[in-house]
Amino acid sequence: MQPLLSIENLKTVFSTTRGDIRAVDGVSLSLDAGETLGVVGESGCGKTMLALSIMRLIPANGQIAAGRILFDGLDLLSLPEEDMREKRGSDIAMIFQEPMTSLNPVLRIGDQIAEAIRLHQNVPSKEALARSVGLLDEVGIPQPERRVKDYPHQLSGGMRQRVMIAMAMSCHPRLLLADEPTTALDVTIQAQILNLISNLKEKNNMAVILITHDLGVVAEAAQKVAVMYAGKTVETSDVENLFANPLHPYTRGLIESRPSGCSSGMTTDSDTRLKTIRGTVPSLYELPSGCRFSERCDLVETVCRQAEPELVEIEKGHFAACFVAERAVKR
Ligand SMILES: Nc1ncnc2c1ncn2[C@@H]1O[C@H](COP(=O)(O)OP(=O)(O)O)[C@@H](O)[C@H]1O
Ligand code: SF4
Ligand SMILES: [Mg+2]
Repeated sequence: MQPLLSIENLKTVFSTTRGDIRAVDGVSLSLDAGETLGVVGESGCGKTMLALSIMRLIPANGQIAAGRILFDGLDLLSLPEEDMREKRGSDIAMIFQEPMTSLNPVLRIGDQIAEAIRLHQNVPSKEALARSVGLLDEVGIPQPERRVKDYPHQLSGGMRQRVMIAMAMSCHPRLLLADEPTTALDVTIQAQILNLISNLKEKNNMAVILITHDLGVVAEAAQKVAVMYAGKTVETSDVENLFANPLHPYTRGLIESRPSGCSSGMTTDSDTRLKTIRGTVPSLYELPSGCRFSERCDLVETVCRQAEPELVEIEKGHFAACFVAERAVKR
């Protein structure tokens, strides 16, 4: 069976006054209906540009330079813009960290959801408004008949994110791209929103790409995970394996720098000090030669500075791009 989404060797580049950079540099991944893939990595590693590439909505100075994005077998990159517009919102929807940037402050939320419905479906406005009440109910907004008349500023951050999710769900997408949907919310609300996304995914057999800088979010809500570093995927796995046996030193660093008590079952001794990954993410304008993580890696060897490791399958279904991890299995 072919996956719902299959990305092959995707490269998204930007032209800037300082030169060209590759924000997404050869990413491959796949996802089935009903699955959540967590995409994790520090800020600036290309997560948002990966999602915007799937939507074909990258900023004007960028272009998708190589690769394929197969959705249900159809290459999105070869679609005419008009057909792509149809896919957006109907088959593929996206939500963002800050709902306020996507909501119109001067329109009632019911009208905004109704508008989203009418963009893709030929229904009278009265019916669209009635459906938006149903959608608000579905995403857990109490008293939806009253709430449809609210303006965005009358809602809390968590409620606004629910409205965005309602809007995204209005045309029954088969793929939801959620870019740091809970980053701006406090922990309790974060858990509720993740729960909501998981429930909607189950109910609608939807695929979800959940972008986050927080491995705790991945542990909570994803089945598969792709770890990104400086535009590349450095490790992919199912979630359990990633936490049980992280292969890439960057992934290990991310796990060790998390507070204990994570729901994956990871524990740390109470007297174990949290580690941080030394150094910072390299600038895409000045990448080190060889492995992009080499300047921060405790295991770095001469070969790491000479060649760039490829993503290879180290154990079944578990891929990493690291010479040392690769050698450990060959032995
Ligand atoms: N319009 C643009 N022009 C040039 N570089 C950009 C542009 N948009 C994003 N980038 C760069 O692309 C890289 C990846 O960005 P992004 O995908 O937003 O990272 P993340 O979401 O992981 O924090 C960053 O180095 C960022 O500075
Ligand atoms: S290839 Fe070398 S530098 Fe890169 S992560 Fe592996 S050990 Fe570290
Ligand atoms: Mg981002």
